[in-house]
Amino acid sequence: MSDPIKIQETYTERLQALADDYSIRLGHRATACVVTFGCQMNARDSEKLSGILAETGFLLTEDEGADLVIYNTCTVRDNANQRVYGRLGALNSMKKEHPLKKIILCGCMVQDRNASEHIRAHYGFVDLLFGTHRLGKFPELLCRMFEEEGMILDISEDEEAGLCDQLPVKRKYPYKSGLNIMYGCNNFCSYCIVPYVRGRERSREPEDILGEARKLASEGVREIMLLGQNVNSYGQTLAKPVSFASLLEQITKIDGIERIRFMTSHPKDLGDDLISVIRDHHKICRHLHLPLQSGSTRILQKMNRRYTKEQYLELAGKIRAEIPDMAITTDIIVGFPDEREEDVEDTLDVIRKVRYENAFTFIYSPRKGTPAAEMVQVPSDEVHRNFDRVLSLVQETAREATARYEGSIMPAMTEEVNPHDGSLLTGRLSNNTIVHYPGSADLIGQILPVRLTECRGFYYLGERV
Ligand code: 5AD
Ligand code: SF4
Repeated sequence: MSDPIKIQETYTERLQALADDYSIRLGHRATACVVTFGCQMNARDSEKLSGILAETGFLLTEDEGADLVIYNTCTVRDNANQRVYGRLGALNSMKKEHPLKKIILCGCMVQDRNASEHIRAHYGFVDLLFGTHRLGKFPELLCRMFEEEGMILDISEDEEAGLCDQLPVKRKYPYKSGLNIMYGCNNFCSYCIVPYVRGRERSREPEDILGEARKLASEGVREIMLLGQNVNSYGQTLAKPVSFASLLEQITKIDGIERIRFMTSHPKDLGDDLISVIRDHHKICRHLHLPLQSGSTRILQKMNRRYTKEQYLELAGKIRAEIPDMAITTDIIVGFPDEREEDVEDTLDVIRKVRYENAFTFIYSPRKGTPAAEMVQVPSDEVHRNFDRVLSLVQETAREATARYEGSIMPAMTEEVNPHDGSLLTGRLSNNTIVHYPGSADLIGQILPVRLTECRGFYYLGERV
């Protein structure tokens, strides 16, 4: 038997029997908890992990006291790794009380050989470790974990194309879903570990993506988020190349899908065709995440970002002019090697000019194996001082940008009951701003007009109209 999908199905059946056997040994139906670290990609991968576990008979819970616990890890900055190491200690104590407990680690941190070697050497109680390329093999790896003795480690870069797209999915939200359009990254920004742990860029065929979007719509999903490390280069390596703009346009035609988001855009190749498609289709949300990283052309060059400060400003200006209600958000790294006062000034200047609706500001974290980790590092106290300056400017401009809609009425997707106040619902505007308004849980998943009565910095208080 050589068809990878058939093999996956056979392992899924075998896993059902193994899960039953595990439940018998436990004396109750086996429970499983999937914990996600990192980005939207990981959140989507976790829905596939949960899909297999639910299909093979595990009872899913959010409690790490579960019989089987999976950490789906991130490694973009070192603090992501430290968070996992910190929590593994607690899992080990639980396992001492409950020896049948199974502990699994997967995702980006595991794919990094330095980290997986460290775990293998120092965290011997982990039962299974597998990397990003092996997600499609999850049923097989789980079978091996139940059938073999000792820790199983699989960080092979062999990947059966499309296999992970065949896994059953257990979605966190009934009304919205991520949808992978491509995997990996070819950009090699000099600070970034992602190309090493997620591999080369691979785009899915447009028919497969459209098929999945239609299926999601038929299941009641009204909002989809197209996922890729750099969606603007989607489709360029396919046998029949397709642009991201044309893919987006085709998705707007699917009945039932009312909102389309995407993540992430690289400024170096965001073309006019994409701006026009967004402008002309109101199903495409008014939110563009456009990572700046630095406002200094000198630092951008060292980062291998392939645009200048002026090119970025021109692009942002064009977007603001063509689509005035578009929110622009960004990522900024402070403390990249050799960053000087004039470079920080350039970053502050871009923030002032673009007036981001929101910005995620990060302290540079050296990642072993990336070119920037070998460069001369900036002293930590200087980095922290600059970080505070960038953060306070970002907060100021973001507050002003968010407030400009006070008093207006906008459609909000009702996402959940406000966790801090049960009388309020939490909704999301097309431009990604959050609004809280009175209402009951039966409205979850509905897109409703809401008056934005009071801006509270980064979010609104509102009322249904
Ligand atoms: N240090 C700090 N921030 C980083 N990012 C990526 N790599 C690093 C690093 N080594 C940030 C970038 C990216 C976001 C997902 O994480 O800003 O856009
Ligand atoms: Fe996502 Fe990158 Fe973190 Fe992996 S390393 S989880 S791709 S942010």
